Amino acid sequence: SVAPAPSGAGSGFVVVANRLPVDLERLPDGTTRWKRSPGGLVTALEPVLRSNKGAWVGWAGVPDVEVQPIIEDGLELHPVPLTAQEVEDYYEGFSNGTLWPLYHDVIVRPVYDRAWWAAYVEVNRRFAEETAKVAAEGATVWVQDYQLQLVPKMLRMLRPDLTIGFFLHIPFPPVELFMQMPWRTEIVEGLLGADLIGFHLPGGAQNFLYLARRLAGQPTSRGTIGVRSKLGVVQVGFRTVRVGAFPISIDSAELDEHSRRRSVRERAAKIRAELGNPKNIMLGVDRLDYTKGIDIRLNALQELLEEGRVDPADTVMVQLATPSRERVQSYIKMRGDIERQVGRINGEFARVGYPVVHYLHRPIPRDELIAFFVAADAMLVTPLRDGMNLVAKEYVACHSDLNGALVLSEFTGAAAELRQSYLCNPHDLDSVKDAIVGALDDERDTKRRRMRSMRRQVLTHDVERWARAFLDSLSHGNIAGSALLSE
Ligand code: ADP
Ligand code: F6P
Repeated sequence: SVAPAPSGAGSGFVVVANRLPVDLERLPDGTTRWKRSPGGLVTALEPVLRSNKGAWVGWAGVPDVEVQPIIEDGLELHPVPLTAQEVEDYYEGFSNGTLWPLYHDVIVRPVYDRAWWAAYVEVNRRFAEETAKVAAEGATVWVQDYQLQLVPKMLRMLRPDLTIGFFLHIPFPPVELFMQMPWRTEIVEGLLGADLIGFHLPGGAQNFLYLARRLAGQPTSRGTIGVRSKLGVVQVGFRTVRVGAFPISIDSAELDEHSRRRSVRERAAKIRAELGNPKNIMLGVDRLDYTKGIDIRLNALQELLEEGRVDPADTVMVQLATPSRERVQSYIKMRGDIERQVGRINGEFARVGYPVVHYLHRPIPRDELIAFFVAADAMLVTPLRDGMNLVAKEYVACHSDLNGALVLSEFTGAAAELRQSYLCNPHDLDSVKDAIVGALDDERDTKRRRMRSMRRQVLTHDVERWARAFLDSLSHGNIAGSALLSE
């Protein structure tokens, strides 16, 4: 249902993110429709916001369109317009050509461009101004992710009455890397406009505390930061800013239930049959991003096939890759490299009608994706760096049958929680190969025991718990924060 949003006294709870949870899609006949936005941020936040009465401020995903606020499926959406030039400089440029590679351990070299920075400042200001209009007196505003790190300070200057939280969905880098950033002090000061700054892991929070001392010159606590506990503190004049670790998660119960449905089980069996009923199905599900290590799992597979440790007659790999940031140079190159690799493996090891690697470059509908998770004997999650990686948790939530095994890179946030996965170091190809062989060939009981333990973790630490922990800390013990999350 799409209806205009009511204009009134404003919203008591506002999420601000670069993207709305839905993207506006222009169809060839000139009409438009909304489709789900890509990425983990939307997967996590959508159920949180749906169960609460709130508003979402974000970009509609296409340049040069002015869209009026709407209510879409019960959510109040406030689009922030971006021009084509701003998409190039703020989104593709500073967000995804500078911050993304810098925060992911410079896998690709970050570009430091003054015009991109100017656009980042400008667009952050627009988000802050739009939010200032949408938020009710005394509202709680939750700003999301690396694209909007200046919004907390800008918003506080416009609306000192608001309670402002910020959560970073990607890793916060080591101090030595962050220090490359020409506008490092501005970014730290931008974040310090919040009342609470959340990271996935204690390490990121700890890095930030150090930088708040060194770059912003503010006194901070020095104790160890815990997971959802023992917050750090930065004193900014009379204000106290809290800093903590809140590992994000998924709507585990919903996914568990969904994956048990008969229709999904039947589709999973059909997928197996369509793939030729192989003994082993390995699955990769990612945005097509160089951080995800898709090339690494393909290299590992290629060597395992060459060495005869994996038999192409009974094993297939399915790689589902959502198109992402398609005009950014590093993404264009990576896509070419991966598609060449897929072609090479199939060229060497496939039979006619039986590819070893099935590669789809498109988003997969939710039901179908869940059926793939259910069908897969091993899930390959091999990023060089990832803030959390929700795909790993989704796979586990879909395996109430206790079948399946998760190969997981140590360099994901999820690795801190899913200790019973087949952990590997993506920089060490032998380690990835051994993890894959273990995941495929270990005793059934070993795999079931591992899956049971991971399920306990994922089902008890869901996204609602993440949001509750963050918002409770934001409201600092007063019940307003919990009240934002319905029971
Ligand atoms: P990121 O936020 O970097 O994209 P995550 O693993 O945290 O990575 O989240 C990705 C989300 O996007 C998950 O909910 C996953 O199911 C979804 N997703 C990834 N690839 C696809 C795909 N090919 N089709 C549909 N959904 C996908
Ligand atoms: O945190 C991961 C993230 O970058 C989100 O901020 C973003 O919405 C998602 O991945 C998808 O990326 P993009 O919005 O650039 O398509």
